[in-house]
Amino acid sequence: MIEVKGLVKKFGEFTAVNKVDLSIKGGEIYGFLGPNGAGKTTTIRMLTGTLNPTEGDIRILDKDIRKDDIQIKSEIGVVPDEPKMYENLRGFEYVEFIMGIYKVDKTEAKKRLDEICEAFDIDFLNDYIGDYSHGMKQKLMVATVLMRKPKVIFLDEPTVGLDAKSAKILKMLIQKYRDEGSTIFLTTHILEIAEKMCDRIGIIKDGSIIAQGTMEELRSKSTQHNKSLEDIFLELTGDEEIDNIVKEL
Ligand SMILES: Nc1ncnc2c1ncn2[C@@H]1O[C@H](COP(=O)(O)OP(=O)(O)OP(=O)(O)O)[C@@H](O)[C@H]1O
Ligand SMILES: [Mg+2]
Repeated sequence: MIEVKGLVKKFGEFTAVNKVDLSIKGGEIYGFLGPNGAGKTTTIRMLTGTLNPTEGDIRILDKDIRKDDIQIKSEIGVVPDEPKMYENLRGFEYVEFIMGIYKVDKTEAKKRLDEICEAFDIDFLNDYIGDYSHGMKQKLMVATVLMRKPKVIFLDEPTVGLDAKSAKILKMLIQKYRDEGSTIFLTTHILEIAEKMCDRIGIIKDGSIIAQGTMEELRSKSTQHNKSLEDIFLELTGDEEIDNIVKEL
């Protein structure tokens, strides 16, 4: 579903993503973790066709992003790190706009949207998006992506801004869609989410993937085998000396 070889992104002299390889199957939740500025959003932007790679090959749904980017974009779903939407539209107008550009089966998508809106307590579709809170925009963004039921879904820190109930529902929906065959690629800083939900995890630091595998495989790379993902993450990213840092402050 997602095949990436030798992916590189340079901004001038600076290398933000450095020779990243990925191979993600159907029906898999892949968690892409890493410290701030590690290259996660830059990688997602290249995989979803909004940023051209400097080098490397990207195949999504067995299509080459350089040749079939429109086809790929029509089949994937993307929840970006910031829910940027047209502020002068009312919620329902944005939904109609998305249904129009993706040419979805309106009856089916509308039915799914109604269910998702009920689950997320979305009762503000008549209001202008410009008046929404961050969490309200995030919920509408998630709802309009999930109503299309894409085969591959990219989510960049999807729970940021969501209240506890909405975050829990989103996590359960992601798992349901995975069980129904969708491929999920998500980034999160909440390692508990990654540990509980993801089938495989990749850790990126300074643009390079430093570890990749199931929780079991990551544990076997760590010095202590019964560690939590948080401990493994901090050990692998070299950020273990937190106690000393806090003492110094
Ligand atoms: N358009 C750009 N021009 C120059 N540098 C950029 C640009 N976009 C990203 N970068 C740099 O690339 C690096 C990776 O950024 P990126 O947004 O991918 O990080 P991230 O892993 O998503 O971090 P976070 O966890 O904070 O969201 C950072 O050093 C960032 O400053
Ligand atoms: Mg980011």
